[in-house]
Amino acid sequence: MRIVADGFVLREWQDSDAERLADIADNKKIYDNLRDGFPHPYSLEDAKRYISFVKSNSSSSLILAIEIDGLIAGNIGAFFKDDVYRKNVEIGYFLAEEYWGKGIISMAIRELSKYVFDNYDIIRIYAEPFARNTGSRRALEKAGFSPEALMRCNVIKNGIIEDSCIYALLKDNFKY
Ligand SMILES: CC(C)(COP(=O)(O)OP(=O)(O)OC[C@H]1O[C@@H](n2cnc3c(N)ncnc32)[C@H](O)[C@@H]1OP(=O)(O)O)[C@@H](O)C(=O)NCCC(=O)NCCS
Repeated sequence: MRIVADGFVLREWQDSDAERLADIADNKKIYDNLRDGFPHPYSLEDAKRYISFVKSNSSSSLILAIEIDGLIAGNIGAFFKDDVYRKNVEIGYFLAEEYWGKGIISMAIRELSKYVFDNYDIIRIYAEPFARNTGSRRALEKAGFSPEALMRCNVIKNGIIEDSCIYALLKDNFKY
C-alpha cells in the first residue's frame, strides 16, 4: 500500500531501506523520546531486524516508512490492541531530525488515522508521549487528538522517572 500526501509518501518498508533507516535512527534525540525497545546506538543490524519485524507482524500492526523526495525520512506505525481493547490502535512515530518542525508528522498522523478508520474496525486511536515531549504533543493536537490523561511517574527513561500523557482520537470526531 502507498498513501501519497502533500510533501511525503507513506509506504511499506523494504529490505533495501535498512541503511538509510540506520542513518536517521541513530540519534540520541530520537531515542530519548521513545521506549527502550528502540536501540541506541542504532546499527545496520538493528535496522535489518526492525524491517524483518515489520514484515512478520503485519497482522497485528501497520507500520509504514515516511518517504520525502524519494528518501526514507521516518517511521509511523499503528499497533492493533486485543481482547477488550480490540477496537483501539496505539500509534508511534519518529522523523529524521533534518525534517523536524515542517508539519510532517502532524500530517502523517492524520493520513494514517484516516487509513485506519477507513480500512479497519477501529474506533479509537491513541498515543502515549512523554509529558516533556512538546513537539509530539503539539503534533497530535494538530492532527485532531485530544489530551485524555497525565500519568504521573509512569515511565523510566535514561534512569529518570517521568510523567507521560495519553492523547486520543475517536472515529466519530475525526474530520479529514
Ligand atoms: C516529535 C516529532 C515526531 C515531531 O515531528 P515534526 O514533523 O517536527 O512535528 P510537526 O512539525 O508536525 O509538529 C510539531 C509541533 O510542535 C512544535 N514544537 C516542536 N518542538 C517544540 C518545543 N520544544 N516546544 C514547543 N513547541 C514545539 C512545532 O513548532 C510544531 O507546532 P506548530 O506547527 O504549531 O509550530 C519529531 O520531533 C521526532 O521524531 N522526535 C523524536 C521522536 C519522538 O518524539 N517520537 C514521538 C514519540 S511519542
